[in-house]
Amino acid sequence: MRILSVVGARPQFIKLAPLSREIRKRGHEEIIVHTGQHYDINLSDIIFSELGLPVPHFNLGVGSGEFGYQVGRMIELLEDVIMRIKPDIVLNYGDTNTTLATAIVSARLKIKQAHIEAGLRCGIKSMPEEQNRIAADHLSNILFAPTPTAINNLKRENVYGKAFLVGDVMVESFRIALPIARGKSNIIQKLNLKKKGFILLTIHRAENTETPETFLNIFDAIRIIGEKVVFPIHPRSQEMLRIWNLNHYIPGNLILVEPVGYLDMLVLEENSSVIMTDSGGVQKEALLAGTPCITLRDVTEWIETIDCGANILVGTKKDSIIKGYERMKGKNGFSIPECFTLNAPELILDILESPEII
Ligand code: UD1
Ligand code: UDP
Repeated sequence: MRILSVVGARPQFIKLAPLSREIRKRGHEEIIVHTGQHYDINLSDIIFSELGLPVPHFNLGVGSGEFGYQVGRMIELLEDVIMRIKPDIVLNYGDTNTTLATAIVSARLKIKQAHIEAGLRCGIKSMPEEQNRIAADHLSNILFAPTPTAINNLKRENVYGKAFLVGDVMVESFRIALPIARGKSNIIQKLNLKKKGFILLTIHRAENTETPETFLNIFDAIRIIGEKVVFPIHPRSQEMLRIWNLNHYIPGNLILVEPVGYLDMLVLEENSSVIMTDSGGVQKEALLAGTPCITLRDVTEWIETIDCGANILVGTKKDSIIKGYERMKGKNGFSIPECFTLNAPELILDILESPEII
């Protein structure tokens, strides 16, 4: 089978890795297209090399820009590549602008497509990721849902494609990389951290980087909490701190670092006392690492992480962040929901290889 994967942003490289390995193991022809949505070395090249991913066959070099430019250019260039390659199936990952462009082009070219991480919803239609997920789910022929909640969402929306509960591909990335990370990463020593003696913070969502108040609230909360905080900063957030001239508000206990590689990130997740994040991927990894998570949003697509007690939603107000920290600090022993124990890459390939699918 000729399988074409389209990726462009950091979390998509991490989702691709275990599937790519399974595709190659089973002897299928694999073609990887990188749209170039993320291009900084520490968001792209480092992740590819740490995960042992092959160099993409095509890099469209689209880069950053307004929505219309970015998705428009992806559509134009992807159409050409997909027409030339004529894959048996396109694999589309997650909820980024790359996901949206891939969904539209594959549907127009009548190429079968499967959406990995289908059915996730947070109920906020103004959010770019929610729009991208809805479009991808409704244009896909096959929907690989990570959780029972996602399957129910797809049923409710009556999507055309066939949905399967396969678990989450990121679980397999985590499981494979964690022992390697423990052996290779020296981030704890490099940043002079004590195990379970620091908080890990990530924040990058559009809705959390639109106004300076969100950053000021988070910084105030961190100052009051007083524990050391490590913040590998996403370029979007870095840019906003610069534009609003907020660098002098950064509290003394906050260590701001460039985005770290995936291996360093896993070691930070495992050794932190609490994770504060608005990232989808990091919420799940917190559960897998056994570290309590405080999500800096009012909603989440990953309800199962809340139900098992590993994660809470606190929004971005100072007092609720502090209360959330006090509630979650020291918690452990979360039981992993069944959907996060499935081997998603194996199940996905089994389904793709079944005669009625392709
Ligand atoms: C994108 C996804 C988001 C995902 C995140 C993962 C969309 C709509 N959003 O958000 O769902 O959680 O990736 O990290 O697709 N930039 C750089 N270097 C880079 C990439 C970006 O400096 O390599 C800066 C640019 O100023 C750019 C900004 O970050 O304008 C935003 O990048 P973009 O890819 O549009 O969205 P993300 O915020 O990264
Ligand atoms: N990640 C990383 N380095 C960092 C921050 C995050 O490798 O400095 C990894 C993290 O472990 C997870 C993924 O990136 O696997 C999550 O991506 P991100 O938070 O950018 O996007 P989201 O999951 O919110 O779409």
